[in-house]
Amino acid sequence: MNKEEKAEADRRQSREPFLEACESYLASHPTCFDVPAHKMGRMTTDLVDFAGEQVFKADFNAPLGLDNLYHPSGVIKEAEELAAEAFGADRAIFSVNGTTGGILTMFIALLRAKDKVILPRNVHKSVINGLILSGAYPIFVAPDVDEQTGIANGVGVEEYVKAMDENPDAKAIFVINPTYFGIASDLKTICEEAHKRQIMVMTDEAHGAHFHFSSLVPLAAMDAGADISTLSVHKTAGSLTQTSLILTKGNLVDFSRVNKSFAMLSSTSPNHILLASLDAARKFLYFHGEESINHSIDLAEHARQEINKMKGLSAFGKEYCSKPGRFALDPSKLVINVTGLGVTGFDILHEIREKFNIQLELAEVSEVMAIYGLGTKEEDSEKLIEAFRYLSNEHYGKAPAFKIPHFHYEYPSLIVRPREAFNAPSKIVPLEDAVGEISAEAIMIYPPGIPIAIPGEMISKNVLDLIEFYRAHGGVLLSDSAEGYIKVIDQSNWFKGGDVDYDI
Ligand SMILES: Cc1ncc(COP(=O)(O)O)c(C=O)c1O
Repeated sequence: MNKEEKAEADRRQSREPFLEACESYLASHPTCFDVPAHKMGRMTTDLVDFAGEQVFKADFNAPLGLDNLYHPSGVIKEAEELAAEAFGADRAIFSVNGTTGGILTMFIALLRAKDKVILPRNVHKSVINGLILSGAYPIFVAPDVDEQTGIANGVGVEEYVKAMDENPDAKAIFVINPTYFGIASDLKTICEEAHKRQIMVMTDEAHGAHFHFSSLVPLAAMDAGADISTLSVHKTAGSLTQTSLILTKGNLVDFSRVNKSFAMLSSTSPNHILLASLDAARKFLYFHGEESINHSIDLAEHARQEINKMKGLSAFGKEYCSKPGRFALDPSKLVINVTGLGVTGFDILHEIREKFNIQLELAEVSEVMAIYGLGTKEEDSEKLIEAFRYLSNEHYGKAPAFKIPHFHYEYPSLIVRPREAFNAPSKIVPLEDAVGEISAEAIMIYPPGIPIAIPGEMISKNVLDLIEFYRAHGGVLLSDSAEGYIKVIDQSNWFKGGDVDYDI
């Protein structure tokens, strides 16, 4: 981009078309005979004390001049075009349904029933729901699993290539960029391999919305060559909770189908404050993203060094990325292994909140994670460092180092597609009676955040052993059924070829 083009882009990006239109509407003091019923805050509730009057004043639904999210032709269209430009995409969609909604949108837009999609096993639960909604057929690839912590990382290029070679008819591959813990796969090479085979690349950037704006973090999906991505701008890029972007690039993706699918899954009354926050975050990122992200990374790097000097604690850095499936890392995520203190991450999560009023992002058996973000200040980081110094002094040497068992894993075989299993008649059985049954639900275990079984998979003795093993070692099990039970297909009432067609 030459100097004039840059000046022109800066001029465009200094605008916030949707936010400006909201401000003008508010300033015009309209008399409201439209929804919502509080009429720009003239009916007050206790929420005013908590959230402030302005939240109500700025809460309007669909007044003239504020465009339509699903058929944008005015200020939303302009705001989305600016977002596409700022994030290096061709097209952008504003969403108030999180990356959860974005993932469901990608699945139903781009995959039809029985289409094959290649995806890592450690996907977010919305992806399993995407498989159910779309009717797609999953081909799983194995993520790298860190044996020290039990945590699942990215996927090596060879795993994707092997799966694509074995399934040349696959419609799409799905890549997590990066995992919750900030670990990215070699997305650029994966995209090149997929495109050689005319296979689409969809990415989950729930934790990578800031990637395009700094060279200190892994490559953003749009820069790596992905065709479509959904980004939780709310998590790492400064907009309000729930807001995400769906970005597309190139011509493998049918954008009109994406837009239609997005509308099918979304409320017709999107919150305007949330939408405006995407406009404002985009402008902030364009002008100050690099400086702010890099500053928060400097703070995180300093904390990482300090914590690594403390007894019983360790926080991995760039050296961690030395294997396939661990290609690059987002250093703004500070993953602190606490096993040397003889306690679990869950213990530390609670203790640091009780004693220091510090809220961490998450805990696992062996570690906790602190996320540095655009708003993190030096004094906050110093407080975190001092809190960990206290915890190290308090716990180190009092109990033996907490031992993480050797996590092992085997995927069950898929008997029917997740959608078929979801639609089939089901029954709930005690786990010990479930061997030989077909699961009608997903059972997840944290760590490593890998589903032990998804709908449609055969429950083998190995599945039950794994559940027992993870339970006994402090893993948290998530399923729809009560503890000790599982929902399976009721095979006695499941007549294939009968009146009801489950194979849809
Ligand atoms: C890897 C991953 N994908 C998708 C999501 C869903 O994102 P959202 O909360 O924006 O719906 C999450 C949420 O934590 C996540 O961790």
